[in-house]
Amino acid sequence: MFVGTQRINSLGHLEIGGCDTVELAEMFGTPLFVIDEKLVRENCRKYRRAFEEYYRGEARVAYAAKAFISTAMCKLTQQEGLWMDVSSEGELFTAMAANFPSNRIYMHGNYKTDEELRYSLNVDVHCIVVDSIDELYSLNSIAKSLGKKARILLRITPGVEAHTHEYIRTGQVDTKFGIQLAGAQAFEATKLALSMDCLELLGFHCHIGSQVFEIEPYRITIELMVEFMAQVKEELGFVTRELNLGGGLGIRYTDTDDPPSIEEFIKAISEATMEECAKHSLQLPILIVEPGRSIIGEAGTTLYRIGVIKEIQGVRTYVSVDGGMSDNPRPALYGARYRAIVANKADREPDFLCTIVGRHCEADVLIKDIKIAKPEKGDILAVLCTGAYHYAMASNYNRFTRPAVVLVNDGKADLIIAREKREDLIRNDIIPERLLNEDKQ
Ligand code: LLP
Repeated sequence: MFVGTQRINSLGHLEIGGCDTVELAEMFGTPLFVIDEKLVRENCRKYRRAFEEYYRGEARVAYAAKAFISTAMCKLTQQEGLWMDVSSEGELFTAMAANFPSNRIYMHGNYKTDEELRYSLNVDVHCIVVDSIDELYSLNSIAKSLGKKARILLRITPGVEAHTHEYIRTGQVDTKFGIQLAGAQAFEATKLALSMDCLELLGFHCHIGSQVFEIEPYRITIELMVEFMAQVKEELGFVTRELNLGGGLGIRYTDTDDPPSIEEFIKAISEATMEECAKHSLQLPILIVEPGRSIIGEAGTTLYRIGVIKEIQGVRTYVSVDGGMSDNPRPALYGARYRAIVANKADREPDFLCTIVGRHCEADVLIKDIKIAKPEKGDILAVLCTGAYHYAMASNYNRFTRPAVVLVNDGKADLIIAREKREDLIRNDIIPERLLNEDKQ
């Protein structure tokens, strides 16, 4: 059940990164996100090592910042030699604030505002992943006005969509993202991009889904993409330098989740790319992946304090924690399932069936029907696997303050995002003069 540096210490408490989680909860308050630094680094290294072992050309691992970004996370991924995929001005700004090298950044987004495009060009990101024909025109004219040439990849929608165990190959995917491979749209867009004087086309991008457990859809995608690379070489003389396959590798939220390992995934996509390129006599492109969840997901744990426990005889027992959908909207949004343990009773039998709920003014069910050690008010509940798309998707719903994030390693615990204060909640509120005047009436 445990991953990374998680273990049960001599007090029977859950420990992560050599830190007792019960002490962490005391020290930093709850809810608290705890990030296992060693596991993050290990995941980064697994990706890089696997590419070194299995891919004969150059390869890059670009961390998908949308999963979780903070200035410290930028430092960590930079130290591990990763590149970065950002999908908004705010993510790019965070990376810049952490001095992440801009020439290792891919800029994404299905609708990047002109301001975002200008900002990306001004900080000189490695490349902008162009998502539409419209964007080709606007980027070309913005680049012209800045006297720059924009390096780009074209985001192609290959007609393969994957999620967990299911994938479909329709050819014509119904999505707002990318330029369809079907109907020669991608081919026309490539021709257009090559004709624009302020764009420099480096290659192609695609992303088939997230929390994917199957390797087969990636193989099919590579087949389609490399075939397309061969077509544009033959008909337009364009040699693809970069092929970016996006992210998507799944993780183990519960015991029934069974994703391939990072090594298996990279081995499979490397081999498929090399095979397909050999088949079409193409030189190997720089191969890029953009993992988010599989880098940070399992490294994160949320600590909550248990409060009200309500037993409805013969129905169920509700166990309330001091957070909920504002720090984890995934159960409400996606029906996501989690494992959890009582951190201060980590050595006890999980034999108490209950439903974990948050404090928000809705059903706010975090985990329906889970067995944990018999809980009491004041216990610390640790929900596992909450590193990806949790803090990143946190909100101030019900004017809850966003939790703190702490990075743990070798017995050290460092705050990397401070807990929001009540004052932060009204920082941007404004009472117009005329409402103040009405007070006086
Ligand atoms: N690259 C692109 C272009 C993407 O759109 C995404 C994720 C990734 C990379 C990283 O994918 P990952 O390796 O993390 O699967 N909020 C949802 C997940 C949305 C994923 C969006 N795109 C969730 O909580 O499950």
